Amino acid sequence: MKKIGIIGSTGSIGTQTVEVVRALNRQNPGSFQVVCLSCGSNIDLLVRQALELDVRSLCVSSAADASELSKRLGRGYNVLSGEEGLCELASMEMDILVTAVVGMSGIMPTLCAIRKGTAIALANKETLVAAGEIVMREAGLRGVPVLPVDSEHSAVFQCLRAIDRNALKSIVLTCSGGPFRGFTREMLETVTAGEALSHPTWNMGGKITIDSATLMNKGLEVIEAARLYGLTADRIEVVVHPQSIIHSMIRTCDGGIIAQMGIPSMKLPIQYALTYPARLPDAEPQLDFAKVRELTFEEPDTEVFEALPLAYEALRIGGTMPACLNAANEKAVRLFLEGKIGFTAVTEIVREEMEKHSVIGDPAIEEIIAVSREVYSRAGAGR
Ligand SMILES: NC(=O)c1ccc[n+]([C@@H]2O[C@H](COP(=O)([O-])OP(=O)(O)OC[C@H]3O[C@@H](n4cnc5c(N)ncnc54)[C@H](OP(=O)(O)O)[C@@H]3O)[C@@H](O)[C@H]2O)c1
Repeated sequence: MKKIGIIGSTGSIGTQTVEVVRALNRQNPGSFQVVCLSCGSNIDLLVRQALELDVRSLCVSSAADASELSKRLGRGYNVLSGEEGLCELASMEMDILVTAVVGMSGIMPTLCAIRKGTAIALANKETLVAAGEIVMREAGLRGVPVLPVDSEHSAVFQCLRAIDRNALKSIVLTCSGGPFRGFTREMLETVTAGEALSHPTWNMGGKITIDSATLMNKGLEVIEAARLYGLTADRIEVVVHPQSIIHSMIRTCDGGIIAQMGIPSMKLPIQYALTYPARLPDAEPQLDFAKVRELTFEEPDTEVFEALPLAYEALRIGGTMPACLNAANEKAVRLFLEGKIGFTAVTEIVREEMEKHSVIGDPAIEEIIAVSREVYSRAGAGR
């Protein structure tokens, strides 16, 4: 039996992880036991998940929600709150922690779990963007696996299993192009949050959906890939592939290309991270090639979607610059979703913060957290 924790269990990845665990337990009863769950504030769903899966250790963001949760569940539950609570939860004895929280709130719990020797099924890309060098170094020192859940990185991970690592030339991350593919800058000026939240191929949480619309999501994934696979920026390509059937590819030194394909669904990447190295049946419906008909590719428009080159720049500069980019973006996306700024201001705010930032080279985790908080609190002020 594998003991698993899910932080961010009420979100898009979190609820799909619960579905995957249910399906795996149907195939092999008792193969997975969920030992802890967390959410921000959706305690109605957290209660249902805790009761269904008989999970006794829980965490929510606020102390007020924690006391409401304790009241509803009664005795026999360990209910924690806040960042410290999430770190305590992540430090529990378990085999694998699924990091399905959104944003920089994932950094410290991920590190806590690694320090305990727990394998990570990593959905929370912001952790690797802001603190990837430290996280991967600590995981490497302890021999802790960091298994990608992001579909592109899972695809690369699966492709890499087919070759000797020395034969890798570069990786090619695919990108749907988001809902505004083909738009001009002028057209982007007037798009609404509702339009930006309508992703053509993926159904995801709010922040990542906006990141997909600005192409910052692909930028974050470039940095995530650099950290996961120890690659420099020049060995990570991005290609727009609107059908989202090829999840990503690798180029080999002899000119070959290996791709991983499937329907656009997170079930397989989640399941593979949980069962790795085993492959089990029925993660998702099979791809029907006759229905797909065509696979197309184009270059990303980096003049209109400036977030992608900004992310490459942050990766090349290194130090605390990726943390700055990440925090500025997180704040700007929040301001956009709250209706306080327009769509194009999201990337402008990231650029402004990067221009202001004094980079700390080889930062400690405390410096990364401090930079992230400072940039987050300042970004977009006065708009
Ligand atoms: N969705 C996808 O298909 C997908 C694909 C690849 C990678 N990812 C990555 O996976 C992560 C999660 O994405 P998602 O789409 O699942 O997000 P989501 O639907 O917004 O869910 C986020 C989860 O985190 C919780 N949460 C929010 N703010 C929190 C805070 N300050 N402290 C603690 N918990 C907090 C939420 O709780 P409440 O429900 O109470 O708000 C929810 O459980 C992101 O890093 C994203 O980039 C997602």
